[in-house]
This record gives sequence, C-alpha cells and structure tokens, in this order.
Amino acid sequence: MYGATHILATDLDGTLVGDPEALQQLWTFYKEQTYEVALVYVTGRHFRSALSLIAAEELPVPDVLVTDVGTEIRTAPAFEEDRQWKQKMQQDWMPKDISRIAERIPDLVPQQLPVNCRQSYTVNSDRPVELFEQELRQASIPHKLIFSSGRDVDVLPAGSGKGQALRYAIRKFGVQDARILIAGDSGNDLDMLTLGYPAVMVGNAQEELLAAERHPCLFRASRRCAGGIHEAWVHFHS
Ligand code: GLC
Ligand code: MG
Repeated sequence: MYGATHILATDLDGTLVGDPEALQQLWTFYKEQTYEVALVYVTGRHFRSALSLIAAEELPVPDVLVTDVGTEIRTAPAFEEDRQWKQKMQQDWMPKDISRIAERIPDLVPQQLPVNCRQSYTVNSDRPVELFEQELRQASIPHKLIFSSGRDVDVLPAGSGKGQALRYAIRKFGVQDARILIAGDSGNDLDMLTLGYPAVMVGNAQEELLAAERHPCLFRASRRCAGGIHEAWVHFHS
C-alpha cells in the first residue's frame, strides 16, 4: 500500500457486501477513474471467515486485511500477521479473567471462535452488557468493550478496535496524505468512522451509528451498502 494515492477502507458485512448490483457498479466506477484505489478491509470476522467471504463474494484481494474487530492486521500478498501489532495486542491482555467474569453473567453467550485475541459474546438485551462492563471495570481489567447490532459484544485489548488498527496501518504505510474513504454500518465501525478522515455510514446503518454526532467528515448516505460507498466517494473525492 506504500505510495497509494486513493484508499477505500471498508467494513465487509452490511457495508461493502450486501447489495451485489451496487457493488458491481462501484467496481466499474473505480475502473473508470484515472487512479488506482488501494483496498483495506476492516472486519469483525476472524481471518478464515473473512477469507471465505472474500472468496464467496468474489471480492478483490485487499492490500491490507484487518480482522477480529481490529485485533489482527495482515498485509498482501502473504497475509501474515503484523508482528508489532500482535505484540501490542498481547500486552495487558487478560482473556482468562474476562471469561471468568463473563461466566458469572447470565444471558451472555460466548461465541465459539478459533482465536484468543478477543472475547466475543452474543446477547438478547442491553442489560447483561451493562453488567459485564461494570464488572470488568471494577476488576480493573484493561479492555475495550464494543456492542454492535444490539447483539454482538466484543471485548478487545485496550488500544485496539477498528479505528486504532486502521490508524496504525495508515501510519505504517505512510499514506496519511492519500485520499481516504472509510465506510461502515454498525457499532464496531464507529471508532474508525470518527478518525477524522472522510467517512460514510451507509444507508442501512444500524441505530447505534445513526446516534453518532453529525460531522462534515461523516457522510450519511441514502443508498445501501456499496451504493452508499459510491455516493460518498463522489461526495468527497470527485
Ligand atoms: C462479526 C464477527 C463477530 C463479532 C461481530 C461484531 O459478526 O463474526 O465475531 O462479534 O462481527 O464485531
Ligand atoms: Mg458490518
């Protein structure tokens, strides 16, 4: 991604993926431009699951792939984990203590994941989330808790999340001055959408995003998924 002049950093489910026709139109639009657009996918999925989605939806292979809600960063072509970021994620990370607390909270259902860089759960209401957060704080466990789509609860290492991971990648590849668009549709995207770069909430964004403060850098698209990305790209970069 070194030297990229234009970058699309986007969430996958419900943002880039979800409206196949609009997605084709977006790729056609990018092909018509005089510049290349580097791609950064920033997803809540774990690595293998992200790869399956990329294959199933026939998405272009990205330049950078951020998975697990910003706790793993990989770069093309080999997609090995960024070691420096991994080390940072492992500092003060206390997954066992987090699980122990979670076990005491009813209605917090652990997600079965092949990774331990994050602890994720599903819930049916807000109440267990409030209780969980309170207990984690009381136990002074360094963490970042993110609640998305009224269903997913991710407990991540402090200093991680999609926003922090994306900022790290943008700095690492020296592309701060590139024309960037960041796109998302749910709560785990909020910290990357508010980094200060041009950003878009697609038309189908979840309520937790719509509640965010209005800002000229944060475009609210009317079209869904890739259609909203297209709309925002024209708004900021044409
Ligand atoms: C994706 C992941 C899930 C995570 C959620 C919210 O759906 O598969 O593990 O909790 O995103 O970040
Ligand atoms: Mg999403």
